[in-house]
Amino acid sequence: MVKKFKIAVIAGDGIGPEVIGEGVKVLNKVAECSGDFCFDFTYFPWGCEYYLKHGKMMDDDGIEQLKAFDAIYLGAVGYPGVPDHVSLWDLLLKIRKEFDQYVNIRPIKLLQGAPCPLKDVRKEEIDMLFIRENSEGEYAGAGDWLFKGKPEEVVLQTGVFSRKGTERIIRYAFETARKMGKSLTSISKGNALNYSMVFWDQIFDEISQEYPDVETRSYLVDAASMFMVKQPERFQVVVSSNLFGDILTDLGAAIAGGIGLAAGANINPERTYPSMFEPIHGSAPDIAGQGIANPLAAIWSASQMLEFLGYEALADTVIQAIEKILQEKEVLTPDMNGTSSTSEVGDRIVEILSSML
Ligand code: NAI
Ligand code: MG
Repeated sequence: MVKKFKIAVIAGDGIGPEVIGEGVKVLNKVAECSGDFCFDFTYFPWGCEYYLKHGKMMDDDGIEQLKAFDAIYLGAVGYPGVPDHVSLWDLLLKIRKEFDQYVNIRPIKLLQGAPCPLKDVRKEEIDMLFIRENSEGEYAGAGDWLFKGKPEEVVLQTGVFSRKGTERIIRYAFETARKMGKSLTSISKGNALNYSMVFWDQIFDEISQEYPDVETRSYLVDAASMFMVKQPERFQVVVSSNLFGDILTDLGAAIAGGIGLAAGANINPERTYPSMFEPIHGSAPDIAGQGIANPLAAIWSASQMLEFLGYEALADTVIQAIEKILQEKEVLTPDMNGTSSTSEVGDRIVEILSSML
């Protein structure tokens, strides 16, 4: 029996559809080579163009529609003409929250052949797995805007750290570190954020008692950003709040080959709702429509989807194919100092996969 996975595709804006098209090619190729399963892709036209036509980023019952899928594959949303906080909150953050995708997994792994701006770094030295809290914290959306437009105007943006939310992300990170046999580093800022991050540190300590076999470290976020550049080998599995994880993973992307390579998975570990897979970059309006966007981040996130669906070995093969194309240095997009187009890179990955599978 060939298993069929139903995938909702929200290609989104700008380069979103360009890179997602290549990821879909790769997923289809992997399924075809395996022979055990196939994908059934359903495309949703949601995003900023949709907003300009219909006044909303997605259908009113969009969340209901998405519930029926095994996973969501997302390009990027956001485009000049629609305020970024509207496009982000009404689609991406809505899906993450409604589907309780409280774990954001972002690998920061330097592949052989990937450009690295750091001097004298071996590929083994940049091999981190960021586990970012994805449902609350600084991105909880809590706050107020008082006396708007008046001289006494005041804005409040409140971080929300619940015991449930903090415990579950830290426990997930410990479980991951234990399974991988790696150390776990917690990122916080307890010296300045005297409620939220003191609480975070306390819960990290509490849960670490349950995992005496996992080696732990704890850094303040400012020191962590320095160490990520100076001594990236200090970091293996890393757990962080929503905001800190967002910022540090862009830094991580920069040291591990660039934003065109960085992928992220939004996971609902209980599998009550679909999880969502996406490159971490945005819609890149500056290069959209030119066919030169790097599809490797989107392809890496397709590999994360394969892993989540239970095909770890195939997921790994996709990463090896990415490593091969980087080493060959023949078919790469301009951000990787190449001259090839988005679809040429996707086609070459498919070729490499055919020879590997
Ligand atoms: P961005 O990631 O879109 O672009 C930053 C820079 O990296 C640009 O110079 C762009 O050309 C380059 N870049 C990004 N992805 C690339 C790729 N695959 N290949 C080659 N070059 C690439 O971030 P920016 O400019 O801050 O945001 C643009 C829009 O995207 C905004 O509307 C923003 O809100 C949205 N955005 C959406 C995200 C999402 O949907 N997950 C995440 C980040 C931003
Ligand atoms: Mg970000």
